[in-house]
Amino acid sequence: MRSLLLLAAIGLATAEDGLSGWLRYARIQNANGYHSKLPSAIVTLNATEGSPVYTAGQELSQGISGIFGKTLEVKTSKGKDATAIVGTLAAYAHSNPKAAACLPKLIDDGFYLSASGGNVLIIGQNERGTLYGAFHYLSLLAQGNASNFRLTSNPDAPIRWVNQWDNMQDGGTHGSVERGYGGKSIFFWNGTVRPDLTRAGQYARLLASIGINAAVVNNVNADPNTLKPENLDGLARIADVFRPYGVQLGMSLNFASPQTLGGLSTFDPLDETVVSWWQGISDAIYKRIPDMAGYLVKANSEGQPGPMTYNRTLADGANMFAHTIKSYGGVVLFRAFVYDSRTLNQTLDWKADRANAATHYFDGLDDKFADNVVIQIKYGPIDFQVREPVSPLFSHLIKTGATIELQVTQEYLGQQAHLVYLAPMWKEILDFDFRSDGKRSTTADIVSGKRFPRKLGGYAGVVNVGTNTTWLGSHLAMSNLYAYGKLAWNPKETAEGLLDEWTKLTFSNDKQVVDVISRMSMASWPAYEKYSGNLGIQTLTDILLGHYGPNPASQDGNPWGQWTRADGFSIGMDRTVWNGTGFAGQYPPEVAAMYEKVETTPDDLLLWFHHVPYTQQLKSGKTVIQHFYDAHYEGSATAQTFPELWKTLKGRIDDERYEHVLYRLVYQAGHSLVWRDSITNFYFNKSGIADTQGRVGHKKYRVEAEDMTLDGYRPYNVSPFEAASGFRCVVTKDNSTTGTATTVLDWVQTGKYDVAVNYYDMALGNSTWELYIGDGLVGKWKGDYEYNLGRAPSPYIDGHTAARITFPGVKIQKGNTLKIVGKPDGLEPAPVDYVSILPEGLAD
Ligand code: GCU
Repeated sequence: MRSLLLLAAIGLATAEDGLSGWLRYARIQNANGYHSKLPSAIVTLNATEGSPVYTAGQELSQGISGIFGKTLEVKTSKGKDATAIVGTLAAYAHSNPKAAACLPKLIDDGFYLSASGGNVLIIGQNERGTLYGAFHYLSLLAQGNASNFRLTSNPDAPIRWVNQWDNMQDGGTHGSVERGYGGKSIFFWNGTVRPDLTRAGQYARLLASIGINAAVVNNVNADPNTLKPENLDGLARIADVFRPYGVQLGMSLNFASPQTLGGLSTFDPLDETVVSWWQGISDAIYKRIPDMAGYLVKANSEGQPGPMTYNRTLADGANMFAHTIKSYGGVVLFRAFVYDSRTLNQTLDWKADRANAATHYFDGLDDKFADNVVIQIKYGPIDFQVREPVSPLFSHLIKTGATIELQVTQEYLGQQAHLVYLAPMWKEILDFDFRSDGKRSTTADIVSGKRFPRKLGGYAGVVNVGTNTTWLGSHLAMSNLYAYGKLAWNPKETAEGLLDEWTKLTFSNDKQVVDVISRMSMASWPAYEKYSGNLGIQTLTDILLGHYGPNPASQDGNPWGQWTRADGFSIGMDRTVWNGTGFAGQYPPEVAAMYEKVETTPDDLLLWFHHVPYTQQLKSGKTVIQHFYDAHYEGSATAQTFPELWKTLKGRIDDERYEHVLYRLVYQAGHSLVWRDSITNFYFNKSGIADTQGRVGHKKYRVEAEDMTLDGYRPYNVSPFEAASGFRCVVTKDNSTTGTATTVLDWVQTGKYDVAVNYYDMALGNSTWELYIGDGLVGKWKGDYEYNLGRAPSPYIDGHTAARITFPGVKIQKGNTLKIVGKPDGLEPAPVDYVSILPEGLAD
């Protein structure tokens, strides 16, 4: 009974699938008590159906009805009742010039909001600003704040876009959404725009509520076919469903389209036939979509064509597009992610460095770009790694506007199967001070155009939502999308504050829920960094396949340039000016001097800038290698706490989302151990230096599957070797033979234990496993992560597919037989790595 009352008191929602994200408008506690503080009607000024002001009225009525159970009439003129007046500044000035003249200054997309005993004023500088104001008011209400207040909110930067890397076709190397882990594209299917764009509209609603004003819908690795007339018609339909939310449509272009699609003999940006071909395309687009936001261009990068193919500069390429859309008010976001992924040579050239590329290619072009070109720069010089210094290019573009490219989709960062709340990392990046000309020059002030006065600039977030009802594949990952939009609006917001707000809106105002999600999320990026890549080694994910599981050797020996240069004695990239690639010298003098020396480089970027022995002492007093060992143990220990913390929320949030999140956190806890063991073993193997705490290489609680008595199973050498405990696992002899692996637990004292089995869940089938102690079945499970996790699937026995299942509190008698029965399925041979018999509560 007590728990029933508790559930009623915290307003437990019914099962939820995540589709409405943070815009649930769930009924709050004591809803009736608020009614007198709320408006009784909504008056929208100049709201044609389908306009953002009209949408604002609809949202307010829907929101207030949901949150408080109060029905509001939407009207076009004010009566006697307390009213919410909603409209643009111009419309308000028309009906109430004196009051309008007293309002604070608003810039594009900004809004003014005041509430006083049910009289509410929501005034936007433009239509979408009005909608932003309405969403802001609703967000306060949903968090239980209906007090009197006045506020003015203007965006920090004009460009606040999202990029979707959606492909027109499913299949291929990256499926429907490149680096997307939340299902298929919500925009495209079968080479064309989806007939039903309901999800596109719902996405625009979420985006508008966090101040995003444009979405590029197709992959930066663009398909020229996007420009076919029937697809342009389809894109116009997407723009139509975006428009009520003030979200403008943007498009990625393929530089070679005049040749591949247009049949011209060239795509040289200075060729007149090419220029007029693009003008025709731009005209055709703006005819259909007069408010098209602009183009996004990836050129001369990772095999994509570009102006340098014809010895033209990047500015020649960008300006060609810019001129075709200037009269329409469009902008070109031209990506700085330009580098040579084919011939960079690690072995022959100590000074070769992919990190140098962007600045190298863009230097000297600062005054060459048209004024509607903005350079879109990834936050780090390499590629969305867990730790990178901020790209120095931000400090080189003084006259040209810049946007910072952040990645909401967690490529390299656990792919939404690991909880990694990214706002703390983004905050560090945005607050980084370049000290240009010896003055404070933060990344945020540079992209907003405040530090070097420029009209255009801002933010681009690679989001990659999909058809999954959770959007990103995981409910908790949505805090990253929320924080991204809110930071793009105001980079002074705090990571903790945004998280709390998001949690209240997404789950509940219940303090316990807010505290637990805050504790886990705020610990998650540091934990992930600790178990996946430390001291600025970037990432140690497999960069050749999937960008997910551990494979440190994959960084080196190839032209991708994400090198660690690890050998038997030393590790790290020497990027100094005096002896290395010279990258440190790309920063303004104060910062360059800091990174040039080992002594002044922060520990967390040491290996980014310096090649040092494993025995190099850090500022913390530890050696590099011991830091690696300790950090991996600490990081995975933190991940073990996540499922336990989450379990305290049972009954405080709906079961559907509770179970969904728990499933992922349990998986993450297991996979963090795979990370820990793979990386520590790899570097132990390389350096030969023992862990001073005696953990690495010692397996106190484990029985290796290959050491068990096997029937139908055979040992198998795993590649990369460190992805298996003892470098080997067992697989069934063929794909129709059931395997059994048995061992006698004569070394175990009678008692209760947590029994963990490490196995591999490949994308080639759904094997099943059974675990027995004596004759008793402890449990059985299926290898179906490829359907449920969303992370990039792998057909191999490797660090991506390594997984763990734990059975808590299992009674074992000394001398019992432990047996695993594995049934292969398809081409998946029910692989097993090892079994751990653990004291309860311990994970090893
Ligand atoms: C990364 C990513 C690619 C993407 C590229 C880009 O390399 O793995 O999938 O195309 O970045 O940003 O262009």
